[in-house]
Amino acid sequence: MKNTHHDIAPALARALRAARRVVVFTGAGVSAESGIATFRDALTGLWSRFDAQALATPEAFREHPDIVWGWYEWRRAQVLRAAPNAAHHAIAALAHHVPELAVITQNVDDLHERAGSQDVTHLHGSLHAPRCSRCAAPQAFASPTPDEPDAGRRIAPPLCAACGAPVRPGVVWFGESLPAQAWRDATLAAQQCDLLFSIGTSSLVYPAAELPRLALAGGAKIVQVNPAATPLDALAHHNLRGAAADVMPRVLAAAFSAGMAPPASGQGEDS
Ligand code: OAD
Repeated sequence: MKNTHHDIAPALARALRAARRVVVFTGAGVSAESGIATFRDALTGLWSRFDAQALATPEAFREHPDIVWGWYEWRRAQVLRAAPNAAHHAIAALAHHVPELAVITQNVDDLHERAGSQDVTHLHGSLHAPRCSRCAAPQAFASPTPDEPDAGRRIAPPLCAACGAPVRPGVVWFGESLPAQAWRDATLAAQQCDLLFSIGTSSLVYPAAELPRLALAGGAKIVQVNPAATPLDALAHHNLRGAAADVMPRVLAAAFSAGMAPPASGQGEDS
């Protein structure tokens, strides 16, 4: 990938400069360059004998709480060791260039916040906010910084201080509803925006994957950043093929770097 912004389509740079309301919608791929495995890659190594889709369910937690809690502790340790990458930083910087920016993520890490993004909407919860599986009381971790549990290690979840039931990760599992307020905020932002970036998501998991379609129905431009094809390709106005940490800084440079506007005849890499 060339380290230049000249292959960002001038039409995209113009649309971003003109946009008043921008939505950045992210998935696991935005954290890939921070060393965090994407959801579908997360069960490598010793975790590979498990099926992510089966493990991220209330049923799995009921039947094997120690496997599920061990998996989430392993992921939490990975996130705590990681740092935001250039994509998270570019997204945080974007807030200083556009009148309104809403950052909506499916990720359960906190790397957007650590890069400086404010009021991030988490559609699928957080690795860092455990709660009681019965009474829903917020809980503290036994160890705020887990010492890198081995992949594949079972760890019994702590018990709720109030009612004694097992503590569960504060994430949304398959078959569960999204947090109502977060979903309301997200749909409203998507319906009202002028431009939506869909970054590092496979666009396969609903209802989250509905957001770009809502934005499109409201007349917004859709910009997708992903090294691989997704079902959103056919709908997006711009498909930027590449790693988010490489592409997003170039998008910002193309739109906002003074005196660095891409040449009018520049060839876009996107479609
Ligand atoms: P996925 O793991 O399904 O998809 C990750 C996407 O990131 C893929 O499309 C990759 O091509 C892309 N990708 C990989 N490396 C990238 C990079 N460096 N830059 C940009 N993109 C890259 O993750 P999500 O789409 O986030 O939900 O998955 C959505 C939801 O499915 C997750 O939140 C999780 C899972 O089920 C729950 O746990 C409820």
